[in-house]
Amino acid sequence: MADKQIMLTGFRPTGRLHLGHLHGNIMNMLKYQKEYKNYFFLVDWHALSTEYQNPENIKNNLIECITDLIALGIDPEITHLYRQSDIIQIPELTLYFSMITPLSWLQRCPTYKEQVKELKAKDLSTLGFLSYPVLMAADILIINADIVPVGEDQLPHLELTREIARRFNSLYGQYFKEPKELLSKSTRVIGTDGRKMSKSYGNAIFLADDYKTIKEKIRQMITDPKRIHPTDPGHPQVCNVFSFYKLYQDNKIKEIENRCKRGKIGCIKCKDEIAQIIYDSLKDFQERRRQLAKDSGYIYKILEKGKNHVCEVSSRTIKEVREKIGID
Ligand code: TRP
Ligand code: SF4
Repeated sequence: MADKQIMLTGFRPTGRLHLGHLHGNIMNMLKYQKEYKNYFFLVDWHALSTEYQNPENIKNNLIECITDLIALGIDPEITHLYRQSDIIQIPELTLYFSMITPLSWLQRCPTYKEQVKELKAKDLSTLGFLSYPVLMAADILIINADIVPVGEDQLPHLELTREIARRFNSLYGQYFKEPKELLSKSTRVIGTDGRKMSKSYGNAIFLADDYKTIKEKIRQMITDPKRIHPTDPGHPQVCNVFSFYKLYQDNKIKEIENRCKRGKIGCIKCKDEIAQIIYDSLKDFQERRRQLAKDSGYIYKILEKGKNHVCEVSSRTIKEVREKIGID
């Protein structure tokens, strides 16, 4: 039987996960988990490139995040779960790549230009932040991954990874594969204030929220502003609550659209219903998470197992890379 292809993705350790995370990359990982050989890791070094002034939360966030991932169904028996900073071979590969990566490739990278402008409060004029994509290329190529699930915002980084692989291959002889992206459907989950759901905007529904919290958060959401009485005809396309119905009740969406358009349901009732549906979808997860949280040793054991395996694979890559370059 042919070997399974390798799927690899890195995840920022952002602390407890919310619905925006779930409907992005994680759904893809869960869907394809059995089809590929999986590497799933938390990128604490990448987090450090923007949080180096306040790194104190990174480790806690990482543990919260990995607990959520396991409770969601990322299965440590078939997926190698690890943290980036345990794989000490990654910085060595980053170093070799930094020798061959022209500065201009990094400076013209759209994510770089954008973030330096947007995250004004942080001083990002550092070497580490500029070379963020070089570190990412090392994450991916050290495993020689075939498929990388990413959101659209990460495409320029993946393109750079391929360029670095090509440049290495042309300088030192064919060695690295060029990994392909697996784009997560652009399910842009809207937060309770209508902007993209994000922890930093304070508009997120967390996977760990109880029913009361979810209900209160959904109750605050703006619906169709033209609708004053429950019997007024509504416009679901402009309503943020309706976007949750699209995510959770797609099979009944016509019916839900019509009851709103015909003024057959009041917004409060409509909101409480979707709050219940979201909460019900999270119940099993929340129970599994409670069990996992009782045994923190288990999480550390998984990280240790991931580290051992990935370090072994990475050492092999480093050995061969050194030989290819000719310094060994
Ligand atoms: N840059 C990615 C993000 O911010 C995270 C990441 C780091 C990653 N290394 C990776 C994703 C390797 C895929 C593969 O989301
Ligand atoms: Fe939105 Fe539901 Fe109100 Fe229609 S009834 S505007 S879908 S909350």
